[in-house]
Amino acid sequence: MGGILIVEDDESLSRLIEKKLREKGFRVDNVGSGEEAKKFIAERNYEVVLLDIRLSDMNGLDLLREMSPKTNAKFIVITGYGDINTAVEAMRAGASDFIQKPFSFDILEVSIERAIKEKRLEEENRTLKSFLFDKDSEITFETRSPAFKKVLELVESAAMSDINVLLRGETGTGKEVIARSIHKLSDRRDKPFIVVDCSSIPEHLFESELFGHERGAYTGATQRKLGLVELADGGTLFLDEIGEIPLTMQSKLLRFVETRSFRRVGGLREIKVNVRIISATNRDLNAMVRKGEFRSDLLYRINTMEIEIPPLRERKEDIPLLVELFLKRFRKKIKPETVKLLMNYSWPGNIRELRNMIERASLLSKGEYIDEHLCLPNHTENEICFETLFSKLPSLKDLELIYIGYLYKKLGSVDKVAQTLGCSRRTVFRKLKELRERNGNLENAPLTHNALNIN
Ligand SMILES: Nc1ncnc2c1ncn2[C@@H]1O[C@H](COP(=O)(O)OP(=O)(O)OP(=O)(O)O)[C@@H](O)[C@H]1O
Ligand SMILES: [Mg+2]
Repeated sequence: MGGILIVEDDESLSRLIEKKLREKGFRVDNVGSGEEAKKFIAERNYEVVLLDIRLSDMNGLDLLREMSPKTNAKFIVITGYGDINTAVEAMRAGASDFIQKPFSFDILEVSIERAIKEKRLEEENRTLKSFLFDKDSEITFETRSPAFKKVLELVESAAMSDINVLLRGETGTGKEVIARSIHKLSDRRDKPFIVVDCSSIPEHLFESELFGHERGAYTGATQRKLGLVELADGGTLFLDEIGEIPLTMQSKLLRFVETRSFRRVGGLREIKVNVRIISATNRDLNAMVRKGEFRSDLLYRINTMEIEIPPLRERKEDIPLLVELFLKRFRKKIKPETVKLLMNYSWPGNIRELRNMIERASLLSKGEYIDEHLCLPNHTENEICFETLFSKLPSLKDLELIYIGYLYKKLGSVDKVAQTLGCSRRTVFRKLKELRERNGNLENAPLTHNALNIN
């Protein structure tokens, strides 16, 4: 939380106000000149600035005009007797209140409290607005899930600092939504949020996309181009799908993450930027490090804070809230039985899948309520079978073994299985043996995910 800055060249008055405000629990700084005031306001985060109009080195009004657009702090102007016209001018210049000397401390306190309240409301509005005017305004962070509550706590503390954050989670869990919210809640909210989709940039273009290039850096580089990190200056750089970055680029990226400086391709000059880095991945970066596919020093740098976003099936209690939100736009309702059905599904595509499903069902349902049969069958029958049978999608190898086990049970002989599959008896034997080894007794092996313990 910010504090109060007293800008007053009458030292005894300034000391007195400072003492009283401290007694009330405020954090207080005080300066005696305009120049000092400018420096303090630019560098620190104040809620209220008490500004005497008559300063020794400059007119308080000039200071007000210069500094009020640069800070969110509220200015309370202190004027001498007979300065009433100046006070009006001060209000026009952006002051939120003025107090005439001599004044009682009570009046000052009321004014400060009002200013703080005003500032907090403004801030709240700003945050809300930034969500409302988002291209994707259907976002909610309301939650009943303890796991997601923890995520939100981490989001808040990440927003208050500049540390590098790594967001981990399955596809559609809201990694980008969370990254944007960290940016919007942070002091960088008015600066750019730049997304680098590491999975879609071809390897040979990576360096120039990220760091830009000078004119003539290579054939076709007819003009200087700024890279994404330069465009993000002052704001947040979101490295999406960071697990997809080619190894050759990882060392260049590491250097940038460490120093926040880089050279454009074909450029000599070292350029420094001030960006916060948020990365996201749905891959197991630790496993990639073990396999030599991801640099451990890069991982160590980007995950100063790690936020694991739970999949939707682990925060089922939020499904009703999200469904309500997504239904609103379509003015449709949903029956409790249908909600229950949705809560029993495993949602491999997470929130994105839920939203798409609700949209589709809303558009196709004729009545006031969305039709139950339209929920889930966004999928083909096969998909439903897989999604409901397996909590984790099976590999090709798993499927092969499960299918062979199924055929053997159904057809009863290796010959028939081999015939159906169009392969040799030896292959069928080998596969059945493999299945038996993984399962114990084939006779009792059911045709489900349990068959291969791929839960
Ligand atoms: N908190 C939320 N409230 C409402 N909708 C959400 C929320 N989080 C995510 N969504 C929905 O899910 C979609 C996917 O979110 P997002 O793109 O952030 O996921 P992701 O984890 O980055 O997915 P991927 O790994 O596929 O890139 C969003 O477009 C939005 O529709
Ligand atoms: Mg994403």
